[in-house]
Amino acid sequence: WAAGVERNDGGELAIDGIPVSELKAQFGSPLFVMSETDFRARARAFKDAFDAAFEDICGGVDVYYAGKSFLCTAVASWVAEEGLRLDTCSGGELAVAARAGIDGANLGLHGNNKSDAEINRALDMKLGRIVVDSLDELERVAKIASARGEVAKVMLRLTPGVHAHTHEFIATAHEDQKFGLSMAGDSTEEAGLSAAEEAVAAATSYDSIELLGLHCHIGSQIFEPEGFALAAEKLLVFLAAMQSKYSIVLPELDLGGGYGIAYTPVDTPRPAAEIAQAMAAVVRSSCAGLGIKAPRISIEPGRAIVGSSTFTLYETGTLKTVRVDAPAGADGAENVTFPRRYVSVDGGMSDNARPVLYDADYSAVLASRTSLAEPQLSRVVGKHCESGDIVVRDVYLPADVAAGDLLAVPGTGAYCWALSSNYNYLARPGVVAVRGGTARWIVRGETEEDLLNRDMGVANV
Ligand code: LLP
Repeated sequence: WAAGVERNDGGELAIDGIPVSELKAQFGSPLFVMSETDFRARARAFKDAFDAAFEDICGGVDVYYAGKSFLCTAVASWVAEEGLRLDTCSGGELAVAARAGIDGANLGLHGNNKSDAEINRALDMKLGRIVVDSLDELERVAKIASARGEVAKVMLRLTPGVHAHTHEFIATAHEDQKFGLSMAGDSTEEAGLSAAEEAVAAATSYDSIELLGLHCHIGSQIFEPEGFALAAEKLLVFLAAMQSKYSIVLPELDLGGGYGIAYTPVDTPRPAAEIAQAMAAVVRSSCAGLGIKAPRISIEPGRAIVGSSTFTLYETGTLKTVRVDAPAGADGAENVTFPRRYVSVDGGMSDNARPVLYDADYSAVLASRTSLAEPQLSRVVGKHCESGDIVVRDVYLPADVAAGDLLAVPGTGAYCWALSSNYNYLARPGVVAVRGGTARWIVRGETEEDLLNRDMGVANV
């Protein structure tokens, strides 16, 4: 839960003292409720933890908030006010950054398939870095910048062969994925040269490219520091080799995002300070061992900053209970049947696609009141025409939950609104930010009129 979310004396969930029933009355549901205070505090905490760990190595860390996790103009401006930079991955995200008045020097642009228009826009906005994803794109950026008589600031995204997911990571020599330049030796036609090295060589040969350094991103929702540390080590070894072979200096190294959060009590991400220190230890010892000056380190956390700042407020509707048969297990367990109650809410996979897409787990609480009724195994489902439309797979909710109650699902700040859709012609919920006891739209909810706006009607039939 975000800071400032607690039960009031009447037993109702409230944020900064504003009860959920008031939010529902004023803004409707489903509704994303974001604590601005919490967002800002986490942004600052991340910056402080990494700055402290890397102070003696490279004077601190540049933290780029990954806008793909959740972005709107207000959030972009909070990010800047808290001393962070912004990582974008499309022309649309650049447009939001521009609207928030963010200095181009504090922006990065990602993407494996940037359009010429996006590259031009990045150059128009004098972006601090374009993170180039392929040899093909490097050539395109060089050509576009050259035609404009400008020099593009570029980082190269490499795939270090480290893949992390939650508490496991795997290391492989070869990369078979759409992102990045492979570091494996025989990955391109050019005998012996990795795509990564070819890109370094090419980048240094273009007058219209300033090669700032290297980048990698090893995955998302990662709990432990080992994967980050291994990737950092691999990239530093490569960086040192490139510096000496091509007589260049690569002043920057970006280690990407992916820092995990707790969605349910079984999730146990390590604190940012611990991860920062583990990463710093590896950067420190690698640079010393390689005899190089440490590059300026940057990172790109998204989820870890915005994820826990937000909960989704839903109103409950239809309820039904089914008997579930659990077949006898191989371990000799008996056949059992148990009741499961389906609690439908007024949103679903259109405002949170993560359970459907990634089997993601969430939790939920009865928010509009407390109840002494017995907890009952429940499944919170949406209103979409799809049986996989699940919001929370298994949660114990009071047995007297009834239509018209309000449920709150925490941890929905990252990749929920961002991935939302209009499936079944549902209007996408808006986002309300709460600070100092007041709530206001930062993205208003869609209306039926919005939904029909782009439908050309019968005129063109
Ligand atoms: N940097 C790059 C280059 C990325 O691709 C991403 C996320 C991030 C930073 C931020 O990662 P974060 O710190 O938020 O984990 N939709 C999925 C997550 C996709 C992540 C894509 N890239 C989900 O909902 O779990």
